Amino acid sequence: MSPKDIDWKSLDFNYRETDYSYVSMYKDGKWDDGELTKDHTVTISECSGVLQYSQSCFEGLKAYTTEDGRIVCFRPDMNAKRMHDSCLRLEMPPFPEDRFVDAVEKVVKANKDWVPPYGSGATLYIRPYMFGFNPVIGVKPADEYMFRILVTPVGPYFKGGMKPVEVTIPDFDRAAPHGTGGIKAGLNYAMSLHPIMEAHRNGFNENMYLDPATRTKVEETGGANIIFIKDNGKTLVTPKSDSILPSITRRSICYIAENILGMKVEHREVFFREVAEGEFDEMGLCGTAAVISPVGQINDHGNIIHIKAGMEEMGPATRKLYDTLTGIQMGRLPAPEGWIYEIK
Ligand code: PLP
Ligand code: COI
Repeated sequence: MSPKDIDWKSLDFNYRETDYSYVSMYKDGKWDDGELTKDHTVTISECSGVLQYSQSCFEGLKAYTTEDGRIVCFRPDMNAKRMHDSCLRLEMPPFPEDRFVDAVEKVVKANKDWVPPYGSGATLYIRPYMFGFNPVIGVKPADEYMFRILVTPVGPYFKGGMKPVEVTIPDFDRAAPHGTGGIKAGLNYAMSLHPIMEAHRNGFNENMYLDPATRTKVEETGGANIIFIKDNGKTLVTPKSDSILPSITRRSICYIAENILGMKVEHREVFFREVAEGEFDEMGLCGTAAVISPVGQINDHGNIIHIKAGMEEMGPATRKLYDTLTGIQMGRLPAPEGWIYEIK
């Protein structure tokens, strides 16, 4: 398939092979120079660390075409830093942060025809990832690692685009107390596959996980952080917990709310009771893939909690946050220092 064959406006969130990926190997205690490759397959030992003990982590960011035709990425240095943190927790050698950003630039540039046009609603999803490469049979970290970046054009993460979604409260946990919820380890997503399929089988879009220790506090969904709005759009509340992935989108939204929109921002523990008692007027899921997807209702074992903004459209404060965030990402609005990385 070539980019010319794609109907950008009807693109879904699925993998499509593009022209180049980026690859670098860690061997004998150091990373090699890395290169672009047209080979989109990986050959590994049947006993490699990733296959036996799931030693892997990944990142997700996007490239956008701006209104004036430039290609930009949103805060790639933050993904580099978060992958560094994921690697340390998984006993993997971090890929140097400056080289991470440079590799993102190289692979986007090599696939520039695959970056969807401005206004199409589609973007180029960038997926850096790393895994234990060599054979490991005793439980220990690998000695060799492969770092790769694949890129693939995508449309909205949730079918229906910006329509509010319904989430459910699963009986499973996504992360353990003091576990790996705060890093982007592949194993966290393996844990979420059964609950997400259960949710889909029951007609819901996503799971809203509660804190694994007490199940009284809101954490996040399988692939996005959560934001709440209260006080007639004046206050943004986001849950705080060590087992929530520190979303770059959420941290950017908090900055926008406080410094651009003049809202009050509370980053604190959020009790599920507050949500059930109707404390919040609006609710959204935020992340690279989700952008900001409004939540209209929560189904807690058959008990429906209606979010005031409802199931028809995004609430007004969520809309302002969405317009400002995407305005910055697409170059329509001025960006805070260092947020936009132009691919030249
Ligand atoms: N939470 C989880 C579990 C995720 O997988 C993601 C996606 O990356 C996010 C939150 C959102 O993070 P970010 O905004 O950095 O994409
Ligand atoms: C992202 O938003 O980049 C993620 O990794 C989430 C995943 C559900 C696609």
